[in-house]
Amino acid sequence: MRRAVIAGNWKMHKTQAETRAFFDRFRPLVAGAQHCEIVIAPPFTSLTAAVESSRGTAIAIGAQDVHWETQGAFTGEVSAGMLVEAGCRYVIIGHSERRQHFGETDEWVLRKTRAALAAGLVPIVCVGETLPQRETGQTEAVLERQFRLGLAALTVEEFSRIILAYEPVWAIGTGRTATPELAAEAHRFLREQAAEKFGRTASGALRILYGGSVKPENIGGLMAQPEIDGVLVGGASLEAESFAAIVNF
Ligand code: PGA
Repeated sequence: MRRAVIAGNWKMHKTQAETRAFFDRFRPLVAGAQHCEIVIAPPFTSLTAAVESSRGTAIAIGAQDVHWETQGAFTGEVSAGMLVEAGCRYVIIGHSERRQHFGETDEWVLRKTRAALAAGLVPIVCVGETLPQRETGQTEAVLERQFRLGLAALTVEEFSRIILAYEPVWAIGTGRTATPELAAEAHRFLREQAAEKFGRTASGALRILYGGSVKPENIGGLMAQPEIDGVLVGGASLEAESFAAIVNF
């Protein structure tokens, strides 16, 4: 039985004060939620506020990116050890916005994933095709390549500690959600990749989240798919009420 994960990616939203205000509203709304892991990923500067505000609750905190080195002359970067010290337990890796706007490659995804695992973080590794790629029938080829270059070099033990997120780029921030059936089809394809590379036991235990315009209105249909093990939520995770409605699907 794969435990569901409901994760919120705040992207470049919320100051420390806004973070504390969010948690004051959000905590009581999800106090009874035991059916899933709840993760919130604020910007680096609000991590400490989020960790302090979630102490004593079942809400875990994640970062939105990490560098693969432990330290060094890498201006602007943050290491996995620094995230652990700040109280993070998860880290999002390879989000499509990082791939699109910051030149993130599959090779970096692999390095970052290894570094996160070595530090004891749970990587949430994102893959997904763009609209032109889907429209030209390249979805499976893109997912296969992202999986092969970004993840296939992990050991089975390492792979058993990651979470995968399928995020079709055309569904992110567009209000255009993949239908539950279409998402499940991509999830099945990814699970098949995992089975081929890491075996049936590892692929059967792998949690695959869907991301892209997840809202309180569509969470029920998505989670009704046995292939969908949770969601990665952007916009709708910014309001305590809407994210709580998704958690309590
Ligand atoms: P969205 O973002 O829910 O705002 O579409 C999802 C994501 O980027 O993880």
